[in-house]
Amino acid sequence: MSAMLSEDKAGNWQIFPDAEAVAKAALHLILQAAEQAIASEGIFRIVLAGGTTPEKVYRLLVGQACDWQRWQLYLGDERCLAQDDPERNSVMIRQCLLDKVGIPPENIHFIPAELGAEAAAATYAAQFTDKLPFHLVMLGMGEDGHTASLFPGHVHNQQELVHAVHNAPKPPPERVSLSQYCLSQTQRLLVLVTGVGKHDAVKQWQAGHDLPVARITSYQQTDILLDKAAAGA
Ligand code: 6PG
Repeated sequence: MSAMLSEDKAGNWQIFPDAEAVAKAALHLILQAAEQAIASEGIFRIVLAGGTTPEKVYRLLVGQACDWQRWQLYLGDERCLAQDDPERNSVMIRQCLLDKVGIPPENIHFIPAELGAEAAAATYAAQFTDKLPFHLVMLGMGEDGHTASLFPGHVHNQQELVHAVHNAPKPPPERVSLSQYCLSQTQRLLVLVTGVGKHDAVKQWQAGHDLPVARITSYQQTDILLDKAAAGA
């Protein structure tokens, strides 16, 4: 059950009772996007996110009858830590999803953040030349309005597809992130926002403030799914 807040060019804002319900709605939208992309193009290119709500979505994806061979997975951002560090987004996604479903290893395109931010960003960007647009980009939002590893006040070269991120306010300070431009090269955008700590940023976003999350757009459809706590409902 959800309450549709508004539906306009800026996206479909929907409020759900809790994070579990947000994750279930996200699951539904992802399965729908995958089915459509595979039916029309034979492939489903999805950008995955770190964070607690996306993690719930990955757990729900396990057990779904998907055509996993046709999924191509990318990451919106990664933390510059050792390859097996439990704080890495890739490690979380592997444990929750990839160890349990049959996505071919060659379809998994994680960010080699263990190389360091600069080298990893350059390596990751090189593969995107013929991979855009994505079919779906999934994002979370931090309490300061950051998304992926695009933080308020950080200035990046807008021509880049992938940024090396230094001095991130959320640890670890060194990260790699798809750029605003790259994240916006997508047919569908799905933003998951849960928890009372996000409420102030949600209010700012709705009031038109220039937050990193507010700058990401899609070609076709943007869905912003919130729980009541984040929405202040
Ligand atoms: C990261 C994440 C980050 C995350 C948001 C929301 O690497 O830190 O990619 O962008 O999505 O901070 O996280 P929660 O869902 O845990 O609040």
